[in-house]
Amino acid sequence: MTNTAAIIGGGVIGGGWAARFLLAGWDVRVFDPDPQAQRKIGEVLDNARRSLPGLSDVALPDEGQLSFHDAMSDAVDGAIWIQESVPERLELKRKVYQTLQEHCAPDAVIGSSTSGFKPSELQGCATRPDQIVVCHPFNPVYLLPLVELVTTDLNGDDLPARAETILRDIGMFPLRLTREIDAHIADRFLEAVWREALWMIKDGIATTAEIDEAIRMGFGLRWAQMGLFETYRIAGGEAGMRHFIEQFGPCLSWPWTKLMDVPDLTDDLINAIADQSDAQSGMHTIRELERIRDNNLVTILRGLKAQDWGAGQVLNVRDRNSTALAASLDQVADISQPVLTVHRAVPLDWTDYNGHMNEARYLQAFGDATDRLMMIVGCDADYIATGGSYFTAETHIRHLDEIHAGARIRVETQVLNGAGKKMHLFHWMYAGDRLLATGEHMLIHVSLETRKASEPAASVAEPLARLADAHAKLPRPEGAGAAIGVR
Ligand SMILES: NC(=O)c1ccc[n+]([C@@H]2O[C@H](COP(=O)([O-])OP(=O)(O)OC[C@H]3O[C@@H](n4cnc5c(N)ncnc54)[C@H](O)[C@@H]3O)[C@@H](O)[C@H]2O)c1
Repeated sequence: MTNTAAIIGGGVIGGGWAARFLLAGWDVRVFDPDPQAQRKIGEVLDNARRSLPGLSDVALPDEGQLSFHDAMSDAVDGAIWIQESVPERLELKRKVYQTLQEHCAPDAVIGSSTSGFKPSELQGCATRPDQIVVCHPFNPVYLLPLVELVTTDLNGDDLPARAETILRDIGMFPLRLTREIDAHIADRFLEAVWREALWMIKDGIATTAEIDEAIRMGFGLRWAQMGLFETYRIAGGEAGMRHFIEQFGPCLSWPWTKLMDVPDLTDDLINAIADQSDAQSGMHTIRELERIRDNNLVTILRGLKAQDWGAGQVLNVRDRNSTALAASLDQVADISQPVLTVHRAVPLDWTDYNGHMNEARYLQAFGDATDRLMMIVGCDADYIATGGSYFTAETHIRHLDEIHAGARIRVETQVLNGAGKKMHLFHWMYAGDRLLATGEHMLIHVSLETRKASEPAASVAEPLARLADAHAKLPRPEGAGAAIGVR
């Protein structure tokens, strides 16, 4: 049965949550009195659809149903997760909980996106305080994995544990805080940096553009993959963290920062910041900046994924838990038919200046399909570690139709020959019923020690022969064995 989430408040953050749940296959019911809410969420969803699905190397579940409701009572109907993202005013949030607790399931999780309030403050006047937790996400919620999950003793153990499981299922990284504090961990930290930046502008030390360059050309990149302490541990050299603190510790008492004081947000300061920011970024609309940001984030996240590190590791765990593709011949439902070897969305970084998937990525998808077929017949990482593998000797791709970022593709594979050292494969790539490309590949089994052709071990030869025999009864694919067609 499809799970249902209710989104109460569908602005910047609520819209992001709606996209996160929908693209994870949940039905999403939205309540927001703003007549523009539907349009705004539609725009967030457009961005999410082109960027999020391609982060995975396997297809996400089918999108859930999105609906908009005029009453909160209606929106929470059937919801097992209710995400409150109304403006940051305590009285408003408390009023919202009172209304929604009159109508929602008593065991549903009520998560608040609050950036600053403690869960005990939110639970203050609630009918069932045990239902309310802080789930503080980061913008864009559909791409960034972090959610600060903050609870109180009133929540007990079961509800926070369920909340953690659900957050992981929708691809997020719940960071469970052991103590509640104003602004949780991340915003307390960000506020310190923000305050410092405001002082530097007020004192005429740096412009908004210089501050942004100082972050993104240097330490911002380090933070994105290791955070603060691991980065400084390395900065201490072989002597490590202790040496780092001894070396730079005294600086902390030098007057480098102004963290103790807050600059007055006078009109002059606000104007200076706004003017500088316009000069820095005003040539782009907010929608353009969002797309630039999403492109960059996807590129960074997919880079981290290749390293199985940090936020990239979170994505890999999710892919590994997917059962969409078979991992062995026993798991293939019907070996008499071509085997599903790729099922995924086109990532943003696979597209090119023509606005569609680049020709090289067709080969990448077919290469991934070949890897999957190798795994299915037993040529997996363990087998390769024993010194046997396949190398590709020849490839012929026909590009038949174009495909765009975010669209779902699948590859089906027929084994044309699996005897001896040869593995001759024919791949079809589809989007729905539309044939996008075919790929024909001749691979030779090799010894990784001699780098020469060699017979595969029986653990590979037998499943491959079984699949090849079953596929021999299929018609020979149209285009198999063809040279470049000249009309
Ligand atoms: N913007 C951020 O970067 C960010 C990041 C993390 C968390 N948050 C938190 O998320 C929450 C929402 O912030 P936002 O930036 O999305 O604000 P926003 O102003 O973009 O959206 C708030 C939405 O709530 C709606 N709303 C107002 N009253 C309502 C009510 N009674 N019932 C239902 N909807 C109502 C508004 O129409 C609006 O669409 C805040 O608690 C904020 O602290 C914001």
